[in-house]
Amino acid sequence: MTGTIDPVAEQTPAFPAARAAGCPFDPPPTVQALRERTRLTRVRLADGSTPWLVTRYDDQRALMADPRISSDVTRPGFPSPSPVRGRPLSFILMDDPEHARLRRMVTAPFAIRRVEAMRPTVQKIVDDLIDEMLAGPRPVDLVQAFALPVPSLVICQLLGVPYADHDFFQDNSRVLINRDVTPEERWVAVDRLSAYLDRLIGEKLDHPEDDLLSSLADRVGKGELTRPEAAQIGVLMLVAGHETTANMIALGTLALLEHPDQLALLRESDDPALVASAVEELLRYLHITHNGRRRVALADIEIAGQVIREGEGVILPNDIANRDPEAFPDPDRLDIRRDARRHVAFGFGPHQCLGQPLARMELQVVYGTLYRRIPTLRLAARLDEIPFKHDGAVYGVYELPVTW
Ligand code: HEM
Repeated sequence: MTGTIDPVAEQTPAFPAARAAGCPFDPPPTVQALRERTRLTRVRLADGSTPWLVTRYDDQRALMADPRISSDVTRPGFPSPSPVRGRPLSFILMDDPEHARLRRMVTAPFAIRRVEAMRPTVQKIVDDLIDEMLAGPRPVDLVQAFALPVPSLVICQLLGVPYADHDFFQDNSRVLINRDVTPEERWVAVDRLSAYLDRLIGEKLDHPEDDLLSSLADRVGKGELTRPEAAQIGVLMLVAGHETTANMIALGTLALLEHPDQLALLRESDDPALVASAVEELLRYLHITHNGRRRVALADIEIAGQVIREGEGVILPNDIANRDPEAFPDPDRLDIRRDARRHVAFGFGPHQCLGQPLARMELQVVYGTLYRRIPTLRLAARLDEIPFKHDGAVYGVYELPVTW
């Protein structure tokens, strides 16, 4: 079945669309409905442009892996959520060979063996934070007490960033990924984070330690990287390394509390395979990077019975791909025993999430520990009182009051 092209911009649906008030875990119903009607359609962005929106899982994967598709945000036609300021940029917004050159500089710590070696450290971080929560007052905001500190402490240790600065980098990261701030506000946050990382890299040049920023500083010293490139890599790793995982911890906990049968399965099993399976299913079901992958076509691409022309923008909302019934039967059901490993919550193709082995391990430790150590954990607010991140490029909750 092919989609219908609607050439009249005013008649195209607006994107991003709002989520339903009643079911905070589901993709926007209007976008889900598009998937049922068509494989490829035009949508209208706030700036009036009308890029293509790809609705099905198979087509999204094919395009994410297609070398004729570009992530270069500076190209004309790129459906950028906000105006771009030129280089230097993070490699997430570049194409090969530049993207591959910079990505290679930071792949080593994410090898499975290196990540597994960090598991005891992450377990200790998780246990210590739970001890603190249990010793403190109730109710408590799980976001501040647990979901944010776990990945922040981990990424700080891996990068060599002082955790004492967490208010600074968490506040600026929040601005960076907020859809509702002005471009100027976003640029101020980028500049602050870049200056901060640049200063740390300067310190590591003089006093190297056993961390990722020191290895970037070493490459700067050898002339393999410029200092602004190193600082941009640092910003990307710091922001991507804590915001995403923090949202998966808090939103994942809320989803489990709202699905007590699934929570009971997880809590009562000591099978690491079930915990790993729950992580994959929650990644699929919650799809927190809900604004979609953004790309622009480098050549005419025939797909889904249509042609995406060179220079036209493409949006790939992974949230509706993860709910495609042809890829995942009964997709709107949270089922931690299903095999959800083919989800696209980490993207696909050359830009597939670099930190996914680390994110997976952190979530396995969290989901495998929190509900067993606090078996009576429950919400301390009504669901309709929870503030959701509808304005963020990464979905989640701003606060999660819990008690036990
Ligand atoms: C549950 C947690 C996470 C989720 C859902 C997530 C999701 C994603 C997605 C969807 C992309 C693809 C972007 C695109 O195609 O345009 C991505 C890329 C990336 N992620 Fe993650 N991520 C997570 C955790 C992490 C962590 C812990 C790190 C560690 C530092 C990290 C670092 C990166 C980097 C560096 C990229 C860019 C890769 C490239 O462009 O080659 N992420 N992530």
